[in-house]
Amino acid sequence: MSSYVFPKDFLWGGALAANQAEGAYLEDGKGLSLVDLLPTGEKRRGIMKGNVPSLTQLESEFYPSHEAIDFYHRYREDIALFAEMGFKALRVSIAWARIFPTGEDAVPNEAGLQFYDDLFDELHKHGIQPVVTLAHFDVPVALIEKYGSWRSRKLVGLFETYAKTVFTRYQDKVKYWMTFNEINMLLHLPFLGAGLVFQEGENVKQIQYQAAHHQLVASALAVKACHEIIPDAKIGCMLAAGSFYPYTCNPEDVYQGMEKDRESYFFIDVQSRGEYPGYAKRFFKDHGLNIEMESGDAAILKNHTVDYIGFSYYSSRTTSTDPEVVKNMTSGNVFGSVANPYLDKSEWGWTIDPKGFRITANQLHDRYQKPLFVVENGFGANDVVSPEGEVNDDYRIDYLKRHIAEMGEALQDGVEIIGYTSWGPIDIVSASSGEMKKRYGYIYVDRDNEGNGSLKRIKKKSFHWYKNVIHSDGENL
Ligand code: BG6
Repeated sequence: MSSYVFPKDFLWGGALAANQAEGAYLEDGKGLSLVDLLPTGEKRRGIMKGNVPSLTQLESEFYPSHEAIDFYHRYREDIALFAEMGFKALRVSIAWARIFPTGEDAVPNEAGLQFYDDLFDELHKHGIQPVVTLAHFDVPVALIEKYGSWRSRKLVGLFETYAKTVFTRYQDKVKYWMTFNEINMLLHLPFLGAGLVFQEGENVKQIQYQAAHHQLVASALAVKACHEIIPDAKIGCMLAAGSFYPYTCNPEDVYQGMEKDRESYFFIDVQSRGEYPGYAKRFFKDHGLNIEMESGDAAILKNHTVDYIGFSYYSSRTTSTDPEVVKNMTSGNVFGSVANPYLDKSEWGWTIDPKGFRITANQLHDRYQKPLFVVENGFGANDVVSPEGEVNDDYRIDYLKRHIAEMGEALQDGVEIIGYTSWGPIDIVSASSGEMKKRYGYIYVDRDNEGNGSLKRIKKKSFHWYKNVIHSDGENL
């Protein structure tokens, strides 16, 4: 499939998020995180969008993050399996509420800090680089209750304190950082992305873009702190990527595709180029949005831009201005998209488009001229364990093979790519649905949507395949 040999120092690996893997949601002093309030089932989507009836947990609900896959207690065993596949990097996130349980504690929680010390030590023992996200859909619930989360400027300083604390503590152990996971998710699932809760009649756009400004300033301050505290580290942003295609060559469709892409690029333009683009200023004006900015903000954004562009890619997206065409929508990492007649979909409606991966990578590199880091990509599927105890996930191998081949093409196009950490190398809780049955892993975890199962780990067919990919530097796909 490919004769392309990836560079020897390419960071092959996998990616996880604290709230989808760790469990132990109140252990060792951890405070509640926003995801701990997300149940499985019907209600989840509404809450993620910001329709949050209450910030307390209900006994009648099942909250999958509370135990997740118990990575908190089993990470040694799991990391040994990642090492067996030859991982060079593991992307994880730090749960902010493990370090600052209320978000504004006078001193950080030592037990939380120690957990990540041990985790990073374990990774280094196996020669695996930690790649760490500061906030992966993660705000301490106490800050949502007290300040309304990122709608308040107060969060900027609290996040900066958190970032400085972990940079200082892990300065010798972590050299790759990211600020906010899929920062553009704030516009699509604002509670999940930024802890935003809306009251009836509120101007949602105004609140979202004000919160976005706060996150962008906080991100720049984290970049500043990282560069000062760990001069040899690299810190990036993280975009939920996947370019929009116009459904036809009608200029109206083409223009709409450009606008849709800009909805996401908006964030990265600020984080990478250091200022609000002209189209954003026009958008604010046209929509009557008044974003409060402090006098020093422009300089902070300008002077502390990211070192690399981290992104997730699952699907391309398609858009149309034709009301008939838009009747045929599909999901796909929650970004609404018109169904693309040329492409297949996963069981969850996510479009499968390997070529779109190459297109997206090229576009991002053309736009920012900075190294890219593919920090998520993968195929969510309902795997079945055979009576012999095997998981023959050929469909996953097929998806990954075709995407990695296109990544190789992008590298040959001149796109700089630091590494590739596929999503959920071990099965974890799905962010969008809360299900366990939407699995991405090379390692199966015996746990179902209701929380039943032994949590036993089983190597899937893709485990052996990915191992071979890494060992051959991407040549044997
Ligand atoms: C990304 C997120 O949106 O996609 C992850 O950063 C998430 O947290 C991943 O898990 C896959 O989405 P899902 O909904 O299938 O888990």
